[in-house]
Amino acid sequence: MSRSVPADVPLVGWGADSVGPVSLPVDRFCPRRRAWVDEAVRLVEADANRSADTHLHVFPLPAEWGVDVYLKDESVHPTGSLKHRLARSLFLHALVNGWIVEGTTVVEASSGSTAVSEAYFARLIGVPFVAVMPRSTSPEKIALIERYGGHCHFVDSAGDMYGAAQRLADESGGHYLDQFTHAEAATDWRGNNNIAESIFSQLALERFPVPEWIVVGAGTGGTSATIGRYLRYRRHPTRLAVVDPENSAFLPGWASREPGYTTGVPSRIEGIGRPRMEPSFVVGVVDRMIPVPDAASIAAARHLQAVTGRWAGGSTGTNLWGVWQLVAAMRAEGVQGSVVTLICDGGERYRHSYYDDGWVADQGMDLAPYAATLERFHTTGTWSPPSD
Ligand SMILES: Cc1ncc(COP(=O)(O)O)c(C=O)c1O
Repeated sequence: MSRSVPADVPLVGWGADSVGPVSLPVDRFCPRRRAWVDEAVRLVEADANRSADTHLHVFPLPAEWGVDVYLKDESVHPTGSLKHRLARSLFLHALVNGWIVEGTTVVEASSGSTAVSEAYFARLIGVPFVAVMPRSTSPEKIALIERYGGHCHFVDSAGDMYGAAQRLADESGGHYLDQFTHAEAATDWRGNNNIAESIFSQLALERFPVPEWIVVGAGTGGTSATIGRYLRYRRHPTRLAVVDPENSAFLPGWASREPGYTTGVPSRIEGIGRPRMEPSFVVGVVDRMIPVPDAASIAAARHLQAVTGRWAGGSTGTNLWGVWQLVAAMRAEGVQGSVVTLICDGGERYRHSYYDDGWVADQGMDLAPYAATLERFHTTGTWSPPSD
């Protein structure tokens, strides 16, 4: 009888010596556990099936400019942000990898939109969820996570989140979902109604159905990775621009081609900008990076609200500041076409910060010069930002 060593039995590491040569098949199939995973996958897929696609709004610009700007509104997802897509992908990825089974405590390092969406999916499949976050996290975010049954675990600083999350998962025999590592792998960049495929199908009947630019920010980098890969996979000429807030490692790391670049300073624009280059930020798919002052991000988010009545978060403002300067450049070069960006989450979560003049002043930010730039651009079409 030949020596058969089933593929899933590693002979190195955890005491291969103790198991000795494995000569008999080792069966780990458990019908009950498999049935639980099947049902969990069905529940997550059913959630997707119940959800309509997010809208693509037109931003009102003079038609004679020959440039159309579109806003992909991810704030209308059931959990209010683009992270609903990522959380769904991360849970499916972990379920099909056998990392989440019945009773697994799911842990994540996030103070933001990701934790809100992951708490929703944890409750959907019936597992405990713990979000590890800095003590400074906004009460609105904590309330949203707890509303979906999530438990919040506080650490002193953002930098402590990753290690604390891994420790909590190890101590509870749980699973650290780790959005920063798995975002790019968990999301299907070929299609499967990912955000890029959805944008192109919603542009199909527009006068410029293939955009010149798609503009997004980066937190995990998962969104920009998915869009950048999809553009290349579908051989679209569209370019990807990534906007980056103050103190973030992404732009300097990308510009200097230093994957280990760190700033050690957290971003003030929730959801984007990181103190280190994150594993899911795929530098090879980014065509241009645009630095955006935090005051400009907030001024642009407020401008969106003033013009369209739509409340959005700071990272949407960062996107728009990048969009307007690209539109101005297209006009200056006589290029007609479309530009697409995202409304990443709703503004109601930031009433006590970006939409609060007192909070803005306490941060030492003056929005006036940036608001003036936006006013001038939308009346004259010329882009003259305040000199730094
Ligand atoms: C509000 C908001 N905007 C943008 C992003 C960036 O998305 P990604 O993590 O896919 O780079 C995030 C990520 O957390 C976010 O919460």
